[in-house]
Amino acid sequence: MIFRLRTSPRVLAVAMALTLAACGVSAQEVVVKVGVASPLTGSGAAYGKDIENGVRMAVDEANAGHPTIGGKPVKFVVESQDDQSDPRIGVQVAQQLVDDNVAVVIGHFNSGTTLPASKVYAKAGIPMITPAATNPTITQAGLNTVYRVIATDSQNAGNAGTYAATVTKAKRIAIIDDRTAFGQGEADEFEKAAKAAGGAIVAREFTNDKAVDFSAQLTHIKGTNPDLVFFGGLDAQAAMLVKRMRQLGMKAQFLAGGGVMDANFIKLAGDAADGASVWEYGQPLGTLPKGKDFEVKLKQKYGVDMLAYAPFAYDATWVAIKAMEKANSVKPAEYNAALKATNYDGITGKIAFTQTGDLKNPSSTMYQVKNVAWAPVMTKTAD
Ligand code: ALA
Repeated sequence: MIFRLRTSPRVLAVAMALTLAACGVSAQEVVVKVGVASPLTGSGAAYGKDIENGVRMAVDEANAGHPTIGGKPVKFVVESQDDQSDPRIGVQVAQQLVDDNVAVVIGHFNSGTTLPASKVYAKAGIPMITPAATNPTITQAGLNTVYRVIATDSQNAGNAGTYAATVTKAKRIAIIDDRTAFGQGEADEFEKAAKAAGGAIVAREFTNDKAVDFSAQLTHIKGTNPDLVFFGGLDAQAAMLVKRMRQLGMKAQFLAGGGVMDANFIKLAGDAADGASVWEYGQPLGTLPKGKDFEVKLKQKYGVDMLAYAPFAYDATWVAIKAMEKANSVKPAEYNAALKATNYDGITGKIAFTQTGDLKNPSSTMYQVKNVAWAPVMTKTAD
């Protein structure tokens, strides 16, 4: 026996409305996908989650305001992809986000993934705003849809280099980096600035971003008798490195660049953290009008301590949403011009872009560990 199931258009419409309602979307709402790409597994996972939290917080706040764009109610939804800090996976997830028709991408975290992924988004005409990737070359490829809401390593590690040679008056400077696009890039910028300020580089060593033992490099560095060691790389390795330096009896000052000023470094380095200095992008959050409040809200919402990048990811998301509202369109080709003309007061400060998509007035701050906590020492803002 054959049963024929007849479904009337009316029943279908009701079923569809019920399905949409179950997803929290009303029939008239336009769904706008906000892509996030960052490491959610591997050693960079905490940074990636921090970025995702910042994006989700902005999107939830935007949706709570019942936004309309082009006369239609809009619902922003987050599509988060794990790039595993791997450039090859970075390109794959970039293509996935493009195929899924995201309106914007907030990401990536690592310069090494951002560099190739930015080309995938640019080819599709989709704006990418990185809240964290700081290699200067990211915005120098002539891509019309690439933006960054954070200082570059030319500024940040450059400040560290000038500081090392002039303020600390280090006479003998050693450098070690993790050989990623980020770590090597910041070591290069540090070296350039330190030399320009009269500093002498006595050793330049490198490791890789998976290494946990730096004995060989540090033994060589120790032999050159430096009074300051600069590390280009991220928090966990910076902590292991300074710990090993102290175990080897090295008294040299420890200085690093971005991505190190967080609780993970202090936890992992233990006593060796004391006196460590870093230059980190941006201004101290506690000194910004909405900064402290943001940190408290994020902790309440996600139950984790904020790292350095959630505020930048939050701001990047709002910058994209504001540009869509201003252009009255969620189509990249229509709102990209508004993005270029951004003038936004964010959690992290004023956001306006140069021709190449970098911040017009980026800031960078030096912090030092005192009594098991990071304390800001000085901030420099480019004008
Ligand atoms: N600033 C770091 C990078 O560019 C996270 O890779």
